[in-house]
Amino acid sequence: MPMFPARFGTLLATGLLLGAPALAQSGTPLGLVPLPREVHTSAGTYALPQKISVYATGPAAQNVAELLKGFLAPLGKTVALTTNRQAAQIRLLTAAPGAPGGPEGYQLVVDKSGVSITAAGGAGLFYGIQTLLQLLPPKATAAARVPYVRIADEPAFGWRGGMLDVCRHFFPVPFVKKYIDFLAAYKFNTFHWHLTDDQGWRIEIKKYPKLTQISAFRKETLIGAQQMFKTPADFKYDGTPYGGFYTQDQIREVVAYARERYVTVVPEIEMPGHSVAILAAYPELACKPGPYETWTMWGVIDDIVCPTEPTFRFFEDVLAEVCALFPGPYVHIGGDEAPKTRWKESAAVQEIMKKEGYTDVEKVQGWFNRRIEAFLTGKGKKMIGWDEILEGGIDDKATVMSWRGEKGGIEAARHGNDVVMTPTTYLYLDYGQNPQPNSPDEPLMIGGYLPLEKVYSYNPLPKELTPAQQKHILGIQANLWTEYITTPQKVEYMLFPRLLAVAEVAWTPAAQKNYAAFLPRLGQQFARLDAKAINYRVPEPVGLDSLSVVRQDGKAVFTLRSLVPGAQIHYTLDGHLPDETTDRYTKPLAVPQGRRLLVRAVTIAPNGRKSPPTELLVR
Ligand code: ACM
Repeated sequence: MPMFPARFGTLLATGLLLGAPALAQSGTPLGLVPLPREVHTSAGTYALPQKISVYATGPAAQNVAELLKGFLAPLGKTVALTTNRQAAQIRLLTAAPGAPGGPEGYQLVVDKSGVSITAAGGAGLFYGIQTLLQLLPPKATAAARVPYVRIADEPAFGWRGGMLDVCRHFFPVPFVKKYIDFLAAYKFNTFHWHLTDDQGWRIEIKKYPKLTQISAFRKETLIGAQQMFKTPADFKYDGTPYGGFYTQDQIREVVAYARERYVTVVPEIEMPGHSVAILAAYPELACKPGPYETWTMWGVIDDIVCPTEPTFRFFEDVLAEVCALFPGPYVHIGGDEAPKTRWKESAAVQEIMKKEGYTDVEKVQGWFNRRIEAFLTGKGKKMIGWDEILEGGIDDKATVMSWRGEKGGIEAARHGNDVVMTPTTYLYLDYGQNPQPNSPDEPLMIGGYLPLEKVYSYNPLPKELTPAQQKHILGIQANLWTEYITTPQKVEYMLFPRLLAVAEVAWTPAAQKNYAAFLPRLGQQFARLDAKAINYRVPEPVGLDSLSVVRQDGKAVFTLRSLVPGAQIHYTLDGHLPDETTDRYTKPLAVPQGRRLLVRAVTIAPNGRKSPPTELLVR
């Protein structure tokens, strides 16, 4: 994670509206996120009883039916599995071999006979269930009526990921599971678990116990936003030891939990950079004698492991345990932000360069990676790394995660390598959501500006690539680095609602995306997030900006609206923070011009929570 994220202005990208949105009986659009491929509604609704019979035969359907029990419990419904298809209100069916929709697609039909979900396997049935849940009321009500509908759906991309950094701050197993729930509910299928970094090693490795005795802990943590600090005196620490790790049993528990929800876990073991926590426990793996400490601040540190035989032995031992714990096909080896300062000074590295005929020290990282890749291949795994792995040279088997924009991804796809797009400019959800960088109205964060609309506007298939090269773009991933994200509530604040935009970029073909049509569907999701007590960031009112102003009779007139249905907007003209006690917005706001008035407005959601203020100086 760069310490100084690039800033950019809002890009208003609006596509063409394709057809009319599917409407529920009430006339409001079905609030489905991500938008399915095909939705046809018809007049009528099907009422689900309190006690629901679910037809499910075979392990995949039964797994999904068991999960449905848990999903429907908050709605006051009980679920019993049955093998009597006629008696069931919900039927989970296996598609004929070769039926359209692929391994993750599904068909959902609701008619007078009840609900039928047909899919090739468990993943499709699970996604059909997620769609069904979004057709039901968010909370327990007397009547749970599902609109008659026929949906045929499948994802645009096979890699729909969310990354969580548990190193800068540690998140316990129950919250890791909740994060997986967030992903699964919006049809993501990949959880990238960033398990090792300078500030803490978080996975038990039996062969190296000091990793969890020493590397998993730091003596204290920097206070405040490092990117704002100018002098050494600005750097103050909290004096509180911090740390934690997952036992191998806990790792297995999380992997199994994810698997039941059709989410593959990709573990990341960072090398050769972001590795000073390893050196705190095993200084003999450094190019120069220690001692070293698990890092207490953020950024990129010169102290990295030396690419020597003991280091290979260490990572091969670690990866052997990692490969045994994670059944998925990919292991992420990091590879980003590895300064070569220590390598340039090292006689051992000079020796490698001489032997291999390298004049550029960056090539040593490529050499290092290829040896690690050969080890992973021997374990039946595929290597994935951040786009820096391109710099040292890669073969055509490695998968590249493009984070410094799309450049690395484009280069890799041209080279024939698979790519996951995760550019900072669209998919780094640790970046802020406030147009004012480092706004005091927001919690402490790394900075940047990545509003919902910008996330939504992302098209993962670069135009620079040919259709054949575009096939190497496996999909996309949202990343959440946690330097400044200390609590689960703050994770939720950064993720929501932007994760829903990411979901639609990953699932819905670009030609079907439309921001204006997304917003009312998103609006209906807020009540669902409330029902799950998710601490989403309440979006500020829309329309208080110089593009939306209408000048009329010496006044600036603003028409404001909230993305949250049923929310109130309150405003001030005196610079104070708007809240329940200040004027409520009920009609277009006419502000006299020529007096330098600061207009500020907040959304107050039906749950009582407020947005940060949006503001504009009217001159
Ligand atoms: C990264 O953000 N350093 C991959």
